[in-house]
Amino acid sequence: MDVYLQDIRKAFPETVALHGVSFEARPGEVHALLGENGAGKTTLMNILAGLYQPDEGSIWLGGQRRRWRSPAHAIAAGIGMVHQHFKLVPPLTVHENLLLGVRGPLWLHRRRDAARVASLAREHGLDVDPLARVWQLSMGERQRVELLRLILRDARVLVLDEPTSVLTPQESQALFATLRSLARSGRTVVFISHKLEEVLRAADRITVMRGGRAIATLRSQDARAADLAALMVGRHVTPPQPSPPPPGAPVLEVDRLTVPGDRRPLAVREVTLTVHAGEIVGVAGVAGNGQRELAEALAGLRPIASGAVRLDGRPLERATVRDRIEAGLALIPEDRLDVGLVGEMTAADNLILKSYRQPPLSRRGVLDPRAVRARARAALGRFSLAVPAEAPVRLLSGGMLQRLLLARELAEAPRAVVAMSPTRGLDVGAAADVHRALLEAQSRGTATLLLSEDLDELLLLADRLAVMYDGRISAILKRAEFDRPRIGLLMAGGAA
Ligand SMILES: Nc1ncnc2c1ncn2[C@@H]1O[C@H](COP(=O)(O)OP(=O)(O)O)[C@@H](O)[C@H]1O
Ligand SMILES: [Mg+2]
Repeated sequence: MDVYLQDIRKAFPETVALHGVSFEARPGEVHALLGENGAGKTTLMNILAGLYQPDEGSIWLGGQRRRWRSPAHAIAAGIGMVHQHFKLVPPLTVHENLLLGVRGPLWLHRRRDAARVASLAREHGLDVDPLARVWQLSMGERQRVELLRLILRDARVLVLDEPTSVLTPQESQALFATLRSLARSGRTVVFISHKLEEVLRAADRITVMRGGRAIATLRSQDARAADLAALMVGRHVTPPQPSPPPPGAPVLEVDRLTVPGDRRPLAVREVTLTVHAGEIVGVAGVAGNGQRELAEALAGLRPIASGAVRLDGRPLERATVRDRIEAGLALIPEDRLDVGLVGEMTAADNLILKSYRQPPLSRRGVLDPRAVRARARAALGRFSLAVPAEAPVRLLSGGMLQRLLLARELAEAPRAVVAMSPTRGLDVGAAADVHRALLEAQSRGTATLLLSEDLDELLLLADRLAVMYDGRISAILKRAEFDRPRIGLLMAGGAA
């Protein structure tokens, strides 16, 4: 079914999310909706799916103008959307979930649908055990159930919001094959993404959104990653070029570290790894396999059960956060305002948060504002970061906050850095700046442990890559051994 969204406008109390966006997708195609965080992608598709009413503009489906009274109305008309947060009921089985909301006597559907489910699943590569309970399934399997649910309801238009954010590379490949097969069967497939490489790999056409506007629609075969990046951020972005120095002595040593988790007894189990001076060691893994707990334990934010952590040979596992910082360990947390920065303070004040007790910034406990400003300018200048030094940081964008935090953490040339998803949610330009700052620290000899769910980021920056699965490190690969399918297999718990 042809989808045409015409001049859609949508304002929320604080922002105009869509300033008159037109978008068109056809049966038989996989169409990617590409854009940075906040570009308006989800809002536009929520309007198509009847979750929001547009303030202005119209929805056309197969040449007919439609107005949704409710999401159910849009579903009945053939629009199916897989949201970022799945809407399945975990205690129920796959089959029960598939039948939820279906009208008529359940036992009848049960019998009739079992065969249909099996054949649809086979046709589109959506294998999943109908008797399994949803809570037992991996994210990839849950996504398949969501898709099956929509297909069973005869969705002719399938929309998926950031479907690969919860998947391993392998599962992403399988999903893209499924989307291709669904398009071939005559359905219209739209998937939202902010990842350049995957839209180039998986889509026939790409519509780029920026700041609540549709900027361009291109055919994938005519598009290049650099051009898409420029369209996404509105200026040209030069990717950083890693040139790692020869690795030096061991700096950060983790020895059989075991860390309790919040939801299960052990989140990190007997993890052993070493990061050398001037080396970036990446940690890959699907979210929830112990990466966060590992980072927190290294930073001193989470107690450990057993094992050792050494910085330059000195034991740290019982040290306080402050002792670790003084020993030369820096932390770049995922949640910038929560852990890293004080929203009400200016950028300049945030930059000196850690060194305010020492001269020349303060003498006998009195701060010297001129010295603070000079320090702020120098730190921001070193990483060529355009951040307003005098504004309260809560007013800055996510990209600005992360650049600021990096400037602060890396300014003093720390011995080691633990960085947790440092570019999550940032635009391509800000992410490139963050990568440059990490590489500059590396060239000055900092040992970096980089935990990230973005495999492209790890493959770009890491000298070695540790893969975490179920709290353990299942393999440590050298750069020459970096191989997406193999890493994907390890992330899914397979053997190397
Ligand atoms: N329910 C909402 N209430 C208020 N603002 C919203 C709501 N949903 C989205 N926004 C705002 O609209 C803009 C576009 O958001 P969204 O469509 O989620 O972007 P994307 O999916 O491209 O990341 C953002 O500025 C966001 O903060
Ligand atoms: Mg979104």
